[in-house]
Amino acid sequence: MAETGRFTLRRSPDEGPGFAEDIRAGLTAVRKVIPPRYFYDELGSALFDAICRLPEYYVTRAENELLGGYRREIAAALGGVRRLVELGSGSARKTRLLLDELAGPLEYVPVDVDVSMLQRTGHELLVQYPSLTVSALSYDFRRAARAVRSMAAPSGSTSVLFLGSTIGNLDADEATALFRDLRAVLNPGDTVLLGADLRKPKAILEPAYNDALGVTAAFNLNLLQRINRELGGQFDLRSFAHRAFFDDNLSRIEMHLVSLREQTVRIEGLGLEVSFTEGETIHTENSYKYDDEMIGALTGKAGFRIEKKWMDTKGWFAEYLLV
Ligand SMILES: C[S@@+](CC[C@H](N)C(=O)[O-])C[C@H]1O[C@@H](n2cnc3c(N)ncnc32)[C@H](O)[C@@H]1O
Repeated sequence: MAETGRFTLRRSPDEGPGFAEDIRAGLTAVRKVIPPRYFYDELGSALFDAICRLPEYYVTRAENELLGGYRREIAAALGGVRRLVELGSGSARKTRLLLDELAGPLEYVPVDVDVSMLQRTGHELLVQYPSLTVSALSYDFRRAARAVRSMAAPSGSTSVLFLGSTIGNLDADEATALFRDLRAVLNPGDTVLLGADLRKPKAILEPAYNDALGVTAAFNLNLLQRINRELGGQFDLRSFAHRAFFDDNLSRIEMHLVSLREQTVRIEGLGLEVSFTEGETIHTENSYKYDDEMIGALTGKAGFRIEKKWMDTKGWFAEYLLV
C-alpha cells in the first residue's frame, strides 16, 4: 500500500489470471477473444480520453450534459454520502461535477485497472478538493466489493458510481454477479448511480465506434501492440483491421480485430504461435445498449430497485439511481 497523507493506493493481492494467461486462453479459444479491460494500459487510457472528445462519440457528451444539468438534484439524492466508490473511475472528469456539489468531508474510492491513471487522477482531485481523502484501489472492479467491505465503516452513507456505460462491457450474468457483490457490502440508505447508454438507431450507434479519424481503431489495435510490447508478440498491425457493428438482437455493439490475410503470429513470451485465417476475428469488446426493462432485470435479480432516472435532452443516455 502506498500512502501520502490524504492519498492511499491499495493493489489487489489476487487478481486471478493475469495478462499473459488471459491472452493465451483467449487466442487459443475456438472463437478468439481478448477481455476489454486490457485496452487500458497507459496508451490505451490516453486513446480512450481522445475518444471522449470525438464528434461521433456522443456517450461522454450526453452523460456530461446530464450530470451537469441535474448535478444538484443527483447530489441531493445521494443523501449524506461520506464514502463515494467509483468503479472504472478513469480520469474522473465527470465525477467532478458531483464532487462540486457534495458538501462536507468525503472519502473517494476510485477503482481502476490502470494504476498510473489512479495516481494521476487521485493527486489532481486532492488539489482541487481540500476536504477529500482518496483511497484508491488498483483492482478489477469485479473483485472490488471485498476490498470495500474490509475498509473501516464510513461516518455516513456510501454511494457507488458506475459511469460511462462501462456496465455495457459486461454480459448480463457478469453484471448481475457484480451487483450481487455490491449489494452484499451496502447498507440500507446506500445508493448506486449507474450511467447507461440507451438503445437508439444504428445510424447513431455505429459511427460512434467507427470514427473518421481512426482513434477507436487505434484504441482497438493497441491491444496487439500491447501484446508486442509486453509479451514479445510479433503482430504486424497493418495485417489487422478494426471492425465495429451493432447487433440489434443482442442489443450490443461488438468490436473485433479482423485478420486481413492468412497468417501465423509468434508470441515469444508465451512460446505460442497463433494462426489466423483470412477474415477471422478476435472479439475485443461488447457494449450493450439498454432500456429500463434491461436495467431493471440486471439489477433487480441482485436485489436493487430503480428509485429514479435522469436523461439527457436527446434521451440517449440515462443515469439510474438504484437503492
Ligand atoms: C469506458 S472507460 C470509462 C471511464 C470513466 N468512468 C468515464 O465515464 O469516462 C472504462 C474505465 O474502466 C476501467 N476498467 C475497465 N475494465 C475494468 C475492470 N475490469 N476493472 C477495473 N477497471 C476497469 C478502465 O481502465 C477505464 O478507466
